[in-house]
Amino acid sequence: MLVLGIETSCDETAAALVEDGRRVLSDVVSTQVDIHRRWGGVVPELASRNHVVQVMPVLHEALTRANKTLDDVDLIAVTSGPGLIGALLVGVQVAKSLSLATGKPFVGANHLEGHLLAIRLLEDAPEPPFLGLVVSGGHTSLYEVQDYGRYRLVGSTRDDAAGEAYDKTARILGLPYPGGLPIDQLAQKGDPEAIRFPRALPGADNFDWSFSGLKTAVAQHVRKHGVPEGQALADLCASFQEAVADALSKKFVAAARRLGLKNLVVCGGVAANSRLRSLSKERAEDRHLKLYLPPVRLCTDNGAMIAVAGYEAWRRGLRGDFNLSADPAWRM
Ligand code: KG4
Ligand code: ZN
Repeated sequence: MLVLGIETSCDETAAALVEDGRRVLSDVVSTQVDIHRRWGGVVPELASRNHVVQVMPVLHEALTRANKTLDDVDLIAVTSGPGLIGALLVGVQVAKSLSLATGKPFVGANHLEGHLLAIRLLEDAPEPPFLGLVVSGGHTSLYEVQDYGRYRLVGSTRDDAAGEAYDKTARILGLPYPGGLPIDQLAQKGDPEAIRFPRALPGADNFDWSFSGLKTAVAQHVRKHGVPEGQALADLCASFQEAVADALSKKFVAAARRLGLKNLVVCGGVAANSRLRSLSKERAEDRHLKLYLPPVRLCTDNGAMIAVAGYEAWRRGLRGDFNLSADPAWRM
């Protein structure tokens, strides 16, 4: 079954062709970061307008690279939530229009389920049950994946998402948006023990996080000492990054043990982070848990993960109809 995945929930316009929910034939991502950078974050109205401009060329490119036409496509999968309403609507309208024009079926896919199921694009993918952490710009949520389509939320952030903490901290430090990669790169040259930033909610009884205090601690540090430069900046980034990776990995390892799960998946944009990846591996190994990390290009938003989520939704019997709308707050 050839699935076309379309993703327009935030600031990436993406389309991919995936066979049987497992094999990527093409995966095209057009990012809008240059447009939003000067504003220090995503401007929703600009995002929607640019999706309108980019979506057809991106789709065309995905078909061309896979050497396929719309005739070959068996199912159109589109992110219908969660995300920015105007941005989501572009993808949803395109999917409906393509379906109407070609007679091909379509289905709405959940963006978070897409992040979780991107792992299925690896040769060695875990089967449910497993524990899945989605850690991105908009979400930091821990799920017990009982089966495809059966997700139990066991913990989440009470305020900022981890990616949001990266982006806000980058802004405080005068680094470009999105802040994850620049902080990650500087952190690799810094001392993670230079500054002891707080880890919120350390109790073993809950699997929730809080990152707004960490961002405030960085702001206070900068107010006191000024915006650091050179090695001091690298040290601050490394210390911040250590606090995020420590808080995330400690809790999901504890949750896996409590729930008796042997397999862990860490995914979403922040799963591209070098320290989160290495510390998660270390801690999982210590506790004899098997950790699955998608490659970096499948961590950040893409169309392939939406094709997988749409394929799985279709196998569960879900069907899109022309009343399908975007749901900006869709909970899995
Ligand atoms: O999943 P994603 O592409 O979009 C959302 O669904 O939000 O995640 C984007 C987030 C941004 O906050 C970005 O700063 C963060 O992922 N990110 C990183 C890294 N690369 C991207 N955070 C930490 N380290 C990275 N290397
Ligand atoms: Zn995402």
